[in-house]
Amino acid sequence: MKIVVLGASGQLGSCLKRVAAERSINDISFPSEQEGNILDEALLDKLFNAEKPSFVINCAAYTAVDKAEDEQDICRKVNRDGAAYIAKACAAHGTTLIHISTDFVFKGDVTGLLMETDPAEPENIYGLTKLEGEAAIAEILAQHFTLRTSWLYSEYGNNFVKTMLRLGGERDQLGVIVDQVGSPTYAIDLAGAILDIIASDSKEYGIYHYSNEGVTSWYDFAKAVFDISETEIKLNPVKTSEYVTKAVRPAYSVMDKTKIKTAFGIQIPYWRDSLALCLERLAAEKV
Ligand SMILES: NC(=O)c1ccc[n+]([C@@H]2O[C@H](COP(=O)([O-])OP(=O)(O)OC[C@H]3O[C@@H](n4cnc5c(N)ncnc54)[C@H](OP(=O)(O)O)[C@@H]3O)[C@@H](O)[C@H]2O)c1
Repeated sequence: MKIVVLGASGQLGSCLKRVAAERSINDISFPSEQEGNILDEALLDKLFNAEKPSFVINCAAYTAVDKAEDEQDICRKVNRDGAAYIAKACAAHGTTLIHISTDFVFKGDVTGLLMETDPAEPENIYGLTKLEGEAAIAEILAQHFTLRTSWLYSEYGNNFVKTMLRLGGERDQLGVIVDQVGSPTYAIDLAGAILDIIASDSKEYGIYHYSNEGVTSWYDFAKAVFDISETEIKLNPVKTSEYVTKAVRPAYSVMDKTKIKTAFGIQIPYWRDSLALCLERLAAEKV
């Protein structure tokens, strides 16, 4: 049962590489962007013919949320058209697709748990193009698991946790947004959940929500990073209205994960426990 990971050099792709190795999963390949550019249909066809994958995991995306407001065309190309090209290749080769989407498909004005069936109403270009990608896949391919996730971080790539650790070493005080609430996701946990879905051999295709358990603000997330890593810094709560960004972000987006837990028997760690593990690994890797 062959698995191919697209967008393999990004954060989630790197986590998949690590978790697959930890689980001794060998029939998995991680083509480079040159070998698996999702905007090149001929290249994808060649890759599918060579690898004959049972599963493709698409981690490739345009993820620069603020820059996307100025680069709508390329963002849409990657997040919508790229997703559609992969879905077409999967349909032609009888491959199951695991695709990653985002909580940014939601407006973020509901202070309850967001279900997979709740109306999506993105507030920014990145969220809109990710929603268009979801729709394109659903139109082309029945055999897909689309996982919406939020606030991804890990030892790999650029992310909030690594930025906080860097700033904690450079500054004695820092302002962090206090009125945006959501759920962090350790990308290593998400990678494990993806491989669990593949191992389950389930045919319950469709959209699923996945983040770590629990709810926090960016301010409290930063506070946890500094507390656990024993970094001395004065944290100042900042309101969204005081910190203007190009892209509008959801004020409150907490997703209900009952569906993924029930369908695949997945156990999801609490966000602070996963954060502690990630920080421990980051500290150990630095030594
Ligand atoms: N990061 C988050 O907080 C977050 C939150 C919710 C959902 N997500 C979703 O989770 C998934 C994984 O995110 P991530 O954090 O791992 O993102 P990432 O680190 O930015 O990785 C995305 C990868 O896709 C590659 N890529 C871009 N265009 C490509 C193309 N045409 N062909 C092949 N590869 C291409 C990128 O390469 P370059 O670096 O060379 O462009 C990068 O290596 C994405 O679908 C993202 O939308 C992320």
